[in-house]
Amino acid sequence: MEFSLFKKEEAPKVEQKMLDWLDKIQTTNGTLYESMKYSLAAGGKRIRPMLLLAVIQSLNGELKNGYDTAAALEYVHTYSLIHDDLPAMDNDELRRGKPTNHIVFGEAVAILAGDALLTQAFEIIGKSDITLQQKVALTVALAQSSGANGMVAGQVEDIEGEGKTLSLTDLKAVHRKKTGKLIQFAVFAGCTLADAPVNVQELLARFAEHFGLAFQIRDDILDVIGNVEELGKNIGQDEEHSKSTYPHLMTLSGAKEALDNELDDAADILREVKDSYQVENQGIDMTLLNDMVDLLRITNE
Ligand code: IPE
Ligand code: IPE
Ligand code: MG
Ligand code: MG
Ligand code: MG
Repeated sequence: MEFSLFKKEEAPKVEQKMLDWLDKIQTTNGTLYESMKYSLAAGGKRIRPMLLLAVIQSLNGELKNGYDTAAALEYVHTYSLIHDDLPAMDNDELRRGKPTNHIVFGEAVAILAGDALLTQAFEIIGKSDITLQQKVALTVALAQSSGANGMVAGQVEDIEGEGKTLSLTDLKAVHRKKTGKLIQFAVFAGCTLADAPVNVQELLARFAEHFGLAFQIRDDILDVIGNVEELGKNIGQDEEHSKSTYPHLMTLSGAKEALDNELDDAADILREVKDSYQVENQGIDMTLLNDMVDLLRITNE
């Protein structure tokens, strides 16, 4: 199946799940509820939940097992964006085509809405209708991907790197944590929920590393050449904050080449998955994941 069709069918289901879970918290605080809902419902590409579901679909698993974890992952991602935009971090005023959470609700509520989204994500996984073993595996993996050796660590290193010129090795390490880890979680969760064989899981974990790094390289490139209407966020922010980015370290064309290399590596691994799985299961289809790789390509010069 084509990714665009898949997304058209599946993204609304995840988005509905996200709002259903919000209503299940039954918070007595209307402001907190509105602030959480504002960012959850603001749109976005939903790439992480779609990746999680695309992995399940590609491995012939049951999509219904994935919706809660997909929603939980988007909660964590949405929290990370609310905090990323705060004045103490990237100080951004536009996100997903709307004023950032702190512009609308104030800094204190924005911080606390982020806290609540992060916490709620774990409640969602805990209450999801999946096996106990899967819950434990996903809870631990989501904590690791988000926390002190995952996204949060990457965010600290991103801020510490402002005004400095990081080496490419160091920049890669920051990107792999701040963005790569949650993307790796999406793939890990898809494999876990589809009961993927160990060799497939290992291959897809390598796929996710390339895909995750590519995603942030692309984000860095679009911060230079993208347009506000399409991105829903202001551009030129990285230069303004003297961030180390791929375009900054290796020029725009160097960054585009690095992006292509990561995407080519990711696509190569998908071919390996297909070959290694073929023997046991003729029905395996990597089209969806391949489409997702191709969507990250920046073709026009
Ligand atoms: C933005 O993530 C932050 C990065 C990790 C690059 P997305 O580009 O996935 O943002 P949304 O969810 O589509 O708004
Ligand atoms: C953000 O990276 C990564 C997160 C963990 C949120 P950026 O700071 O480059 O993301 P944008 O460009 O603001 O979306
Ligand atoms: Mg940032
Ligand atoms: Mg930012
Ligand atoms: Mg960026």
